[in-house]
Formats: sequence, structure tokens, C-alpha cells
Amino acid sequence: MLLQLNCVIVDSDAGYRQEMADYLSGYGVEISAQLGEVEGLPSLLSRGNATQLVILNLESQGIAALRKIGHLPRQYPNVCFFILSKVVDAGLLMEAMQMGVREFIPLPINEETFTTALDRVAQQHGMGKRARVLHVIPTIGGCGSTTVACNVAAALAKTGAKTVLVDLDLVRGGAASYFDIRPRFTIADVMESGGSLDKTLLDNALAVHAGSGLSVLARPDLPEDTLRVKPAGFSRLLNLLSRVFDYVVLDSVMSIEPLYATAVQAADVNLIVMQLNVPSAKNAERFVGALRRTATDPHKVKIVANRYIKKGHDIEPADVERALGLKIAHYIPNDFKTAISAINLGEPFVLRAPKTEISQSLMGLAELVNGKNARAIAA
Ligand SMILES: Nc1ncnc2c1ncn2[C@@H]1O[C@H](COP(=O)(O)OP(=O)(O)O)[C@@H](O)[C@H]1O
Ligand SMILES: [Mg+2]
Repeated sequence: MLLQLNCVIVDSDAGYRQEMADYLSGYGVEISAQLGEVEGLPSLLSRGNATQLVILNLESQGIAALRKIGHLPRQYPNVCFFILSKVVDAGLLMEAMQMGVREFIPLPINEETFTTALDRVAQQHGMGKRARVLHVIPTIGGCGSTTVACNVAAALAKTGAKTVLVDLDLVRGGAASYFDIRPRFTIADVMESGGSLDKTLLDNALAVHAGSGLSVLARPDLPEDTLRVKPAGFSRLLNLLSRVFDYVVLDSVMSIEPLYATAVQAADVNLIVMQLNVPSAKNAERFVGALRRTATDPHKVKIVANRYIKKGHDIEPADVERALGLKIAHYIPNDFKTAISAINLGEPFVLRAPKTEISQSLMGLAELVNGKNARAIAA
């Protein structure tokens, strides 16, 4: 079963309440109740509804509201209390601390401080683990990004790391068929209309590949169902998956739409898969430019040249590197026979033919991006 934090929001302003609820949902937090006033809180907590976090905005009532719940932090030591306040004075802070309030958060919220505080609560409830997110992006159709995503994911899973592969090529993708698995549910089924996430369905939708232990979340069967996958639901999904898995591998597309921008930002590594030809290099350059303009950390972008042949490629690696302003981090040799037979047989070549040069290369790539090699991260 996937874990989630249960949270109660207390805020007299319905608009702020909803804003906070939406923000927290995107972060993987379950909103069990929203209250307009603090008076309802004691009876709610006494019902033992497994609340783990209370977020209270003092806004309109100030210290008076704080005093009304003064006894609660000690009475419910397993519940974290976050106090939000526009006014920050030493007396208020001191009083909150003495009551056992965990976090005092000045308004307007500093997002980084706030998410760090949320992470601390998640940690305390055994949900703090953050997976390494690998986002695999093709530059042209057929350049081999699904091959890279599937084989890197299988190689990581094979080492015993808890790994999930998510097919984000929502219309055309076929990651599940690379593993010959036909899940009953897909990424669209785990989304609900309000952009929230159905946890039970997610448990069911993750199909496990027997050969490697890899979990796979497939793309929807019906193209029209892709419309159900929205940025808010996707962020929530990513947050949940990152708490449960060691690695989340996203088989993606080249896009700057909000869903994919979320993936770029969430990723520890954005792997840009290209071939050494002009159309692929042009798109790589356009996309790397877009990443630069959105201030994506260059250390989080890695260029992979696939189907590499030592002699006879259309353009020189050095020219590509100059145009991109980035080194090519990894080369994968051209081996169509191994690549296609693995697809036809529904088992990644790193598992089926681990000794081949192409498999060794993919295992090397998995090592390069697994986050364990400090030198590779800095490179
Ligand atoms: N290194 C490689 N050598 C030879 N063929 C490859 C290689 N990588 C991928 N392919 C082949 O290229 C085709 C497209 O691969 P795929 O991974 O589905 O691309 P994409 O997801 O980028 O559209 C497949 O037939 C696959 O077998
Ligand atoms: Mg693909």
C-alpha cells in the first residue's frame, strides 16, 4: 500500500484554503478536512482520523486562535502542527514553541522552506525517501529513447533497486510491450477528475516484470484517455512514486507542455537521446536551448548518442558538443539485431543478452546516472 500524509487545513479564507489544498495535493499530501475556524479542530482530532499534519493560518484571529488550540500539540504528539502567520513577533513565536508547534511559517510562504518542512514530516512518518528521477527524452522519433529508458530501468531493477518505469509517451508509447506485459490499468486510470490520484488503483496499475522486478506504469489504451493525465495529478503521482521507489524512470517525449516541464524540473537527470544526424542534432539544440532558458541546472542534463558507429556518422560529435554547449555523456553502439529482437521477444537486451556490447553500454549508462558515482554527477 502506498503511504500518504493526512492533513487538516484550518483557514478562515475559503480561497486560501483551496489554494493550500491544491498545492499540497500536488505534493502528495491527502487533505482529510478543511476547516474555516479553529473551533472544529479538537473534535476532529478526537475522532482519531489518523491526521498527521495540521496547517493553521492565524491570519484573521492571531494569537487568540493559537491559544484556542494551545493544548492540542501536547495532547496529540503524533500530529505535526504548522502555524502560518503574517505577523511574526518574538512573543508569538515563543508561545507557539512552548505549545509544541513544530513549524512556524511566516506569510507569504517561501516555497522552499515550506516543502523542506513538509519533507521533515514525511520523513518522520517513514515517507521521506526521495527516489532518483530519470527523465528520458527523444530528439526525433525512433532515436531509441524507449530502448534507453527500458534498458536503464531494467538494469537498475536487476541490481535490486526498487525501480518503476512510467510511460509518458501518452499517445504513441509502448514501454509495456517492451516487457511483454499487459497491465489492466494505466496512468490514466490512476488519475481522478480533480487532478487527484487514486492510490488503490495505482497499486493495481503497477505491473511487475517477472524477469527484473521492475514495475511498469503503462500509457492509456485509448488515445482520448491521455487527456485525463494532468500536471497536478502527475506531480502527485511523481511524489508518491518517489517515496516508494529508489528510481523513477520516465519514458518521455520532447515537449515543453506543463506536464513535461514538471518532469524536467522533477528529474535528477534529463537524458537527451539523439543520433548523430542533422535532424536529431537540430532538435537537441532547440531543446537544450529551452532548458537553458528555463534555468534547468546543466548538471541535470546529459546527452546520449545512440546507434553510434565509429565511422560514417553524418555529423561529428565535436560539432554537436560545440552546438549544444554540452559534452556527449555516453555513446551507445548501433546493434539493430539485438535491439529489435529484444523488442519482439518482450525482454530488454540488458536481461536477454547481457554480454553484448550494446547491453554493456546500457549498463554503463545506468551506472552513470544512478547517483552513486559522484564524479559522473559533477561531469
Ligand atoms: N542502439 C541501437 N542500435 C540499433 N537499433 C536501435 C538502437 N536503439 C534503438 N534501436 C531501434 O530503433 C527503433 C526505435 O527505438 P525506440 O527505442 O522505440 O525509439 P523512440 O522511443 O526514440 O521512438 C527500434 O526498432 C529499436 O530496436
Ligand atoms: Mg519511444
